[in-house]
Amino acid sequence: LLTGGAVAAGGALAGGAAIAAARPDDSGRPGDPIPVAQVGGAVEPFHGGRQSGVTTEPQAHAAFVAFTLKPGTDRASLGRMLRLLSDDAARLTQGRPSLADTEPELGLLPARLTVTFGFGPGLYAAAGRADRRTPSVADLPAFRIDRLQPRWSGGDLLLQICADDPLTVAHAQRVLVKDSRPFASVRWVQQGFRRAAGAEPGRTQRNLFGQLDGTANPKPGAPADTAVWVTDGPDWLRDSTTLVVRRISMNLETWDLLGRTDREVAVGRRLDTGAPLTGAAEHDEPDFAALGPDGLTVIPDFSHLTRAHVTDDRLKILRRPYNYDGVPTAEGHADSGLIFASYQADITRQFLPIQRRLAERDLLNEWTTPIGSAVFAVPPGCPEGGWIGQQVLG
Ligand code: HEM
Repeated sequence: LLTGGAVAAGGALAGGAAIAAARPDDSGRPGDPIPVAQVGGAVEPFHGGRQSGVTTEPQAHAAFVAFTLKPGTDRASLGRMLRLLSDDAARLTQGRPSLADTEPELGLLPARLTVTFGFGPGLYAAAGRADRRTPSVADLPAFRIDRLQPRWSGGDLLLQICADDPLTVAHAQRVLVKDSRPFASVRWVQQGFRRAAGAEPGRTQRNLFGQLDGTANPKPGAPADTAVWVTDGPDWLRDSTTLVVRRISMNLETWDLLGRTDREVAVGRRLDTGAPLTGAAEHDEPDFAALGPDGLTVIPDFSHLTRAHVTDDRLKILRRPYNYDGVPTAEGHADSGLIFASYQADITRQFLPIQRRLAERDLLNEWTTPIGSAVFAVPPGCPEGGWIGQQVLG
C-alpha cells in the first residue's frame, strides 16, 4: 500500500468506503476503485503508551506550532487545555470532526494525521511541576554557528502536526489553535514538506541540497528503541522522548557555485545514490580509514558524515526533518532550508555531543546557518478517555 505504516498494520479505514476512479498507477486494472485508505483515509493511532508522530513513517506535510502560555495559566487550566486539545487530536486523527467543528467536512480525511505534543521548559514552571522536567529539556547552549532569531525559537508547548495531505494539516492546525486561545498564544509556526505520499515509496527523502537525508537513522526495534524512548522510570517519564527543533537556513546560491565533487566531499556521500564515498550503495558502511591515492582519507575528516557519525546504537538520534521553502526576495534570493527535528531519549547524552562536534568543525557549515532553536519533552501517550500530559500534571 502506498502509505505503509498504519494501513499495512491493519489500521482502520476511516471512511470505510472506496472511491471509484480511474487508477493512475499500475497496481490494478484500469477502472478498479482506489481504496480511500491509500492516502486520504489512512489512519495512524492516537491513543497508546507512546505518542504517534515520532517513529511514525514521516508524512508528506508538517506544521510545527509553538505556543507561549498566557500569564496566569496554571496547572488546572493547563489540564483543561490539554484535555481539550487531546480530544481534538483523538477525533481528527481518526477521521472524525472535532467537537463543534465549524468545517466538519474537513475532518473526514485523516491522511495519516498525527498530532504530537511537546512540553517546553516554561510549561513545567507554569504547572508547578519543575521536578518532572528532565534536566536536559532546557535551552541549548549557544553555538558559534548560531544566528538564532527569537521568531523561530523557544516555546512552552509544541504541536507537531503531520499528515499526507496539506488541507488536513491546515484544518487540524486551525482547530487546535482556536481551542488553545484562552490559554496560550501562537509563538511561531514552521511549515515543512517532504515528497508527496506515494511519490517514492520506501525511499529516503531528499533535502533542498538534493541530498538523501535520513540514511543513517536508527532502524525500528531494539536497540534503536532505547535511543528514542525512555524505557523505564516513573509513569510520567516512561515512554517519553525529547524533541529538538532547529530551523537551519541553507544557502542554495553559494551551494550552486560548487562542483558536484565538492558537494559530495562536504557530506561524505554521493548525491545520486547516497552511498558513502567509500561504497557503492546507500546503506554500505562508510570506511573512514580508507585512503585515496593522495594519501588522504577518501571521506574527509571534516565531512558532515565523519563529524556526525555515531557508532553506538544507544547514542543515535532519530532525525525527522522537513524541508521549508519560503518566499524568495524581490531580487530572487531563496529562503530555503531544513526544519531539523530530532528525537532522542536524552538530549544531553545523545544530541549535544553531535551538535558540539558539528559546531566545532563541519564542512557543511559553510552553506548552513541555524536561525531557530527549541527543545521539548514529548510526554508519554494516553489511553482512550485520557489526555496527553495527565501523568506529568496529575
Ligand atoms: C547525516 C544533511 C544538520 C546530524 C546527514 C546526511 C546528510 C545530512 C545529507 C547523510 C545521510 C544521512 O544519514 O541522513 C544535513 C543538512 C543539515 C544537517 C543539510 C542542515 C541543514 C544536522 C544537524 C545534526 C545532524 C543539526 C545534529 C546536530 C546528522 C547525523 C547523521 C547525519 C547524526 C548521520 C551520521 C551517521 O552516523 O552516518 N546529514 N544535516 N545533521 N546528520 Fe545531518
